[in-house]
Amino acid sequence: MGIHVHMPSAHAPSGPGRPESGRKAPGHPDSWWQCAAIYQLYVRSFADGNGDGIGDLAGVRERLPYLASLGIDAIWFNPWYPSPMADAGYDISDYRSIEPVFGTLADADALIAEAHAHGIRIIIDVVPNHASSRHPWFTGALAAAPGSAARERFWFRPGRGVSGELPPNNWQSIFGGPAWTRVTEADGSPGQWYLHLFAPEQPDFNWGSADVRREFEDVLRFWFSRGVDGIRIDSAALLCKDAALPDVSGGERPGPAHPYTDRDDVHSVYQAWRAVADEYGTGGSGGRMLIGEVWLPDAARLARYVGPGELHTVFNFPYLNCPWDAASLRRVIDETLALAEAPATWVLSNHDVDRVVSRYGRPDTAFSLDQRPYFHRFPVDLALGTRRARAAALLTMALPGAVYIYQGEELGLWEVQDIPDELRQDPIWTRTAGADPGRDGSRIPLPWSGTEPPFGFSPAGSPSEPWLPQPKEWRDLTVSAETASPDSMLSLYREALRIRRSSPGLRDGSMTWQPSADGVLAFDRLPGEGAAVRCVANLSAGPVALPPYASVLLASGPLADGSLPPDTTAWLRVG
Ligand code: NOJ
Ligand code: CA
Repeated sequence: MGIHVHMPSAHAPSGPGRPESGRKAPGHPDSWWQCAAIYQLYVRSFADGNGDGIGDLAGVRERLPYLASLGIDAIWFNPWYPSPMADAGYDISDYRSIEPVFGTLADADALIAEAHAHGIRIIIDVVPNHASSRHPWFTGALAAAPGSAARERFWFRPGRGVSGELPPNNWQSIFGGPAWTRVTEADGSPGQWYLHLFAPEQPDFNWGSADVRREFEDVLRFWFSRGVDGIRIDSAALLCKDAALPDVSGGERPGPAHPYTDRDDVHSVYQAWRAVADEYGTGGSGGRMLIGEVWLPDAARLARYVGPGELHTVFNFPYLNCPWDAASLRRVIDETLALAEAPATWVLSNHDVDRVVSRYGRPDTAFSLDQRPYFHRFPVDLALGTRRARAAALLTMALPGAVYIYQGEELGLWEVQDIPDELRQDPIWTRTAGADPGRDGSRIPLPWSGTEPPFGFSPAGSPSEPWLPQPKEWRDLTVSAETASPDSMLSLYREALRIRRSSPGLRDGSMTWQPSADGVLAFDRLPGEGAAVRCVANLSAGPVALPPYASVLLASGPLADGSLPPDTTAWLRVG
């Protein structure tokens, strides 16, 4: 399936301004993304530079030294484009500009250059499955007649029933409710319906349209040419639909027989995108990377997305959803590493799921997007969840591959479950009539300093409050409070990232499981300096004896008399 295009890097910026490749060591890969620590930055909630209560690019630029000192290699920005914000920016009205509330294209250019000067690469989010209903192509399609070329770029169909009053098929929106909305035609009559797998404000593109394909290849070139180093592809398995638009029975598995998930024709899209990325150089410091948001239960189907002719890598959602249980985690780790085509990624949280401290503080520590209301019924033991999140951080950062850190994870923020109903913004909340609280609780503005909201999120004396309220208890979880405390989550992340960064063998390379008691995960990494580093994570209910070791590099909690307490991970130098 591979298109192995390697063209001269006509557009690759050279000279100063692009990060150099990291220190090379045996086993250290050529491509920066294979073992990077990547910070997921949700602009709206990171830092507010102008005091309107909403994060922006000016805020990010001011805080770049914070990210540099945290020790990350790259930032993934959630969508930063102009958007009516029906789905927090995943409804894009212009793919070649910046949302005015966040700043300007000039701000983005400056941010990219400044990040590169810090040695930090930039990954942006591209949303190819759907646009905003305010995108000029869609407003143009609404103004055009049924059957017109303008409507061919989306999925417009007549309705069923005597007068077209029923949707064209039975598909449901992933956010709840029907996946079709009826339009009013130019003459005022009720007309065709259009498809939206998400909110009505997010019409799906028709990837059978050559216009759509050309447009996105051009959008990629637009951003790569501005110095962007990677693209995160939203809803990557959903793009192609069965043009007959058959009803779903509910029993279909993702794959060629599914009307819209993981259809075979989606691969030609990413083969073309890979050729575009490769125009800018491959591997090394110049390489541009594509990471897919691909959510598939079948590892063999997932493997089809990655490889030399397609995406570089995909997110590891099974790891994120896995309960805090040694046997389950070991299985997911083995399955991840067995996917030889895809360098591993390790993800504990993101802007769509409950924060890890809360997940691990519940009696059921698994997670699934479909079952959020079930998980929210449990009480959360924050102290337990925090202890486990610390242990999980060290487990995760010891695994070979790239690690993603969602903003606030490094502060140990928890899922805010008591947001007043009238302040909730997520379309999931409204489209499920409140049955599903949605994702706002993981998107609360970050606490930076001070003892009360807005905790330095907005400049002192700003007239506006943060767009979602921050819990007052976060006074203990601000960046300044945690910087001052050696025992804080932030200090743990900084130290773990520092060790990982200075030991290439801890990033890339292999791992070897070591014998361990039930409920314990133990494996060795070879940092290439003689002695191995052993990671031991105790997920059992009681303390376990530590193996003989030369020194403790780092531990997620206090060690007692040669034993590892429950819910604690240690990095040991052994042998
Ligand atoms: C996945 C994104 O991560 C999520 O936030 C968004 O709502 C959907 N895709 C739709 O774009
Ligand atoms: Ca702002």
